[in-house]
Order: sequence, then structure tokens, then C-alpha cells
Amino acid sequence: MKLGTCYYPEHWPEKMWDNDASTMVKLGIQQVRIGEFSWSRIEPSRNNFKWNWLDKAIETLAKYNLKIIMCTPTATPPKWLIDEIPEILALNETKQIRNFGSRRHYCFSSENYREESRRITKILLNRYGKNPNIISWQTDNEYGCHDTVISYSSMAKKAFQEWLKVKYINIKNLNMAWGNVFWSQEYNTFEQILLPNNTVTEANPAHILDFRRFSSDQVISFNKEQINIIRTHSDALITHNCMGHFTSFDHYTLGKDIDVITWDSYPLGFLDQGWSTEKEKIQWMRTGHPDFAAFHHDLYRNCSKGRWGVMEQQPGPVNWAPNNPAPENGMVKLWTLEAAAHGAEYCSYFRWRQAPFGQEQNHAGLFDSRNRISQGGLEVSEIKILLERLKSLENHNTNVALMFDYPSKWMFDIQPQGREWNYEKLCFEFYTTLRRLGLSIDIISPDHDISKYKLVVAPSLPIIPDNLLKLAKSSETKILFGPRSGSKTSEYQTPPEYPFSKDFQFVKSESIRAGASLKINMNNKAYHSKNWRDIIECENINNIKFIDGHPAYINQEYYDYLATWPSHELLKDILITLTKKLAIKTINLPENIRIRHTKDMTFAFNYSDETVDISELVSNAIFTYGGSKLGPHEVSIWETQMKEIV
Ligand code: GAL
Repeated sequence: MKLGTCYYPEHWPEKMWDNDASTMVKLGIQQVRIGEFSWSRIEPSRNNFKWNWLDKAIETLAKYNLKIIMCTPTATPPKWLIDEIPEILALNETKQIRNFGSRRHYCFSSENYREESRRITKILLNRYGKNPNIISWQTDNEYGCHDTVISYSSMAKKAFQEWLKVKYINIKNLNMAWGNVFWSQEYNTFEQILLPNNTVTEANPAHILDFRRFSSDQVISFNKEQINIIRTHSDALITHNCMGHFTSFDHYTLGKDIDVITWDSYPLGFLDQGWSTEKEKIQWMRTGHPDFAAFHHDLYRNCSKGRWGVMEQQPGPVNWAPNNPAPENGMVKLWTLEAAAHGAEYCSYFRWRQAPFGQEQNHAGLFDSRNRISQGGLEVSEIKILLERLKSLENHNTNVALMFDYPSKWMFDIQPQGREWNYEKLCFEFYTTLRRLGLSIDIISPDHDISKYKLVVAPSLPIIPDNLLKLAKSSETKILFGPRSGSKTSEYQTPPEYPFSKDFQFVKSESIRAGASLKINMNNKAYHSKNWRDIIECENINNIKFIDGHPAYINQEYYDYLATWPSHELLKDILITLTKKLAIKTINLPENIRIRHTKDMTFAFNYSDETVDISELVSNAIFTYGGSKLGPHEVSIWETQMKEIV
């Protein structure tokens, strides 16, 4: 795994660049990302290009053999361009303009902006496409950041109508698919269709779902336009930096066009901003949730063709969460090693030096704005030597996968049918339980080949693709479906025939308020679940039941169905039984310890502030790093396999 940093030469006097580059090398940095917000410095007014500074910055980095990741600067169109073509700006749900003055101020449906994006990409590629120091190109920056995938502009409306024409061919098909007879919503022409905003009460869910699909497709096609240009002019790799918690476009589809997908990992910001409980936010405020970064590593690894990395790693406090604590000493190192253990080929720190001006002046860097090395910087300086000691970081081929699906997220956003229903959180809780059983996990889409896994867990999958059950039936793979699976068609209707109807009947479902729980009896032991249950009926009820006698769990040969949102204990015991049957080895990890296998090594991570004795987990271990007493926020790495303790 190579180390890198995000550098903004345009923020610093030229006389600092040389020393910055030589210091980077001393810290073990090998690659430097530049340029993603630099349009106003490259082209201060139309066709007036200023290349000297950028040529010089590239030369300076190259002098120290630092390789460059160059970015297209389209996340920040400059003011002169917005003044020239004001329609570039996106509109929010109430049709207000999202103005110039920060970033990502563009609408993906603006044809004029797309032309500008192609123009500046071509110009950059003409100049630097063959530059041997540039080993990779990043398209734009974090599609979707600041809620920017959706725009309610008239251009979006027009493009949406065209998209619908291609999908439905004629308006009759669309009316049928959307069920527009309901509330007299029928259309006579595609041109009558508006965007689903500012309606009196909720818009038709099928209408919103198609708009979400369309908006996702707009991101993919915008990105593809840049990619086509980059590929024509350069042999360098192409990347895009995705983000944690971002689900507004389909990352699996984006990943198909990209060589090395990367993501931006801010464990403390995500925890404080996310849906964890107040207790958890305090418990892990300086470490981040033990599964958050790992979840995204496992997701993005499978969004690409296997090549992935971390483009922006949090090096200290960030500026954008409600509260922004400093990481515990050791965490920057731990997060970096966790990326390595998951198979990252790159880990880059955002940013090299804290900015003394602008929106992010309270965001830490590897150096502070007065150029003193930060705690994060000190930890980075230790990592290179450590990485060199590791044998191989080749990925471990796991036999357990979790299915995470973007359209499912959109569907449940549209009609959650219960305040506590949160698809991402549900998937995350399943993931945590799997990981606490010591499993290494792949996160996959419903289109992924499932046949290489023994167990695929789909925490909820409202639309079950036709061939998924067939595939499970014809392979050795068992699927565990969670609640609401199979409950919708792709047009957001209730299916006339439930996909599991040969085996059991779906009667109705209910959502439960926060704090309430549902009692379950499993093999004469009491458990509980929360938030949701599907009430189902079947002939042969097993011994996992709600206390009113309805089945909570169905076993079939190639799939199981769990009819509720389980507590950790319930899911854990279900998974222990299931994995035993499938001959998958599990262990019981302490709450704050996580492990991850590579092909030849096991990594253990301690997310607590206490030393934990992990000797139970390891037999005859040859430690490459650390030992069986895992200190607070420390990592141990060993070569031998785990001992089975469950
Ligand atoms: C990312 C973004 C960076 C910077 C960073 C701050 O979302 O890509 O440009 O803003 O957050 O944490």
C-alpha cells in the first residue's frame, strides 16, 4: 500500500513547495493529489490560461520522485463562468438557486456545463495527458457531496422526460408502471411530467424512484464524459473519490468505469454526524465506530474491479461534524493499517497542511497552518517502515458477503413506513454482528456473482432480481434475507405474487416506535427485535417465533427469511447456527476488538482505551507487529490462523 497526501500548492507561496516536497518524502509519502479545486487559478478568465504555477508545482514534486494524481477541477466552476452561464447552478427542492460561494454548484443536467466540463478536461489532458509524473487522474471531487446529485432545474426536467421516454417508450406504459390511475395522476404526454417536488403531499413513489434512478444516471454519464476524454489522451489510471454515508447515486455503476475507486474516510466526523446513539457517539468519539471505515472498505473494494484505496484519510479534527474531537493518539496509524488489512492499495491523508483561510481553516492537516507537524503527521512518519515489514497484503477470499443495494436505499427513503426504518443502519447493524463473529466480509450488489460465497446476507432487499433465487438454488450459496425482502416490484408496486409464496404467505407488516420491542422465542430462549415485523404464515413453523405464535424465521434449503429487525443477540445466535451449518468458522470478539484477514495475515484492532488480552484468538502466533496484549488503540498483526473458540 502506497501513502499519499492531498496538496494545494496554490494555497502556499512558491518558496515553500520545495521544502514541502522533501518533507513529504521524509514522511514516507509517495503520491500527491493536486488540482481538484484550482480552476480559477488555471483559467482566471475565459481562454486565459495560467500554466506556470501548475507546471512548476508538478516539476517540484517530480524532482523528489513524488507521483501525481491530477484532478479535473469541475467541482468548482469559477465565478466568471457562472456569470457567463448562470444556468449551471442547480436548484433545490423549493426551486431556489444553490448559489456560487462554496463548491459543487452545478446541475448535472446542464448541457452547457457538460460542455465546459469536457472543454476544461480536454485542455488539461492536452497539456498533461502524457506527463510521466502523473500516474493517475481523479474525475471531479466527491460526486454527491453537499446533497448535489439532485437538481430541480428545468434542464433536469427536460432530461428526465427524455430518460422516461427511453425507458417506457409510450405514455401508457408509464401510466401503468407508476399506477397513475391512483389520484387521477395520468399523463397524456411525457412533456406533461414534472419533477416530484413541491407537491401538496407526497409524490407518487414510483415517480420519485425513477427520478432518483435518473439523477444517479446523470452522475454516471457526466463522469463518463470526462473518462472518455482522459482515456483518449492518457494511459494513466482513473479514479474518483467517493465518500462515507453517500448513497444518492449507484456507486457500483460508477465503479464499472473506473480503474481504482477511492473513498474519503473521516471516522470521527461520520460518527458524530451519523445515526449512532448518543452513548455510542461518546464511547467512540476519538476512535470512530469500529465498523464504519471497514464497512466502506468492504463496499468500495467490490464497487470496483478490485482496485481501491483511501483518497482522504482524516488526520486530526475535522471542521464539518456537529462536534469535532481530536483522534486518540494512535488512531491515524490504526485507520491506515485497517485500510491495508482490507486490501487498499493507497492511503492518502487530507490534507498536507491546515489552511489558514477559507471554509476549512479548522480542519487538521499533517502539519498545522504554522507548519508544525501534527500528531497525525507523526503517526504517518511511522507507517512506511511498518508497511515494509508486512509480508503481503493480498486480499483474503472470504466466503461471506453482505448485500447492499442503492435502489433499495432510495425506495426506503421514499416510503420508510416507520420513523425507525433506516436501510443503511439496518445493513450496518447486520455488518457489525457479522464482524463481531470475526468474519471478513465482502459487500456486494444484487447483480454480483454470489456463487463464490457460502453465505450471503441481504438485510433487506425489496426488489429481488429474477435470477437471484435461481442462482442460490443452483449453487452452494445460502442467502439470509431480512424483513421487507421481495415486497416491491422495480416499478414500486406490490408484486402480484410474492417471490417466496411457494414456501410461506405474507399477511401484513407493522412498524414499531423507538424504545418498543417485539418478544421472540428461539429454541426456548427469550430474545427481542425492534422497528419492524412482517407477519407471515406457513405450514411448518420452526421454533423461532414471535410470542403471538407467528414465525419470525423461515428455513428453506437455499435461503432463510428473518421477518424482523433483530437485536444484536438474536442475530448473533441465528448467525452462529447458520454459519455452523455451512461450515464457516466464527469466533466471539469483545465489543471493541475487530479482526481482518489478508491472504497470509490476521490483523486485530483495538477500538477501546483498555488493554485487551487476545491470546484466546491466536494459536502459535508469529507476530509481525504488536502481541497478544493489545494496547489501547493498537494493532497486532500475526501470520498464523486464528484458533476456533466458538
Ligand atoms: C471531503 C472533501 C475535501 C474536504 C474534506 C474535509 O469531503 O473531498 O475537499 O472538504 O472533505 O473533511
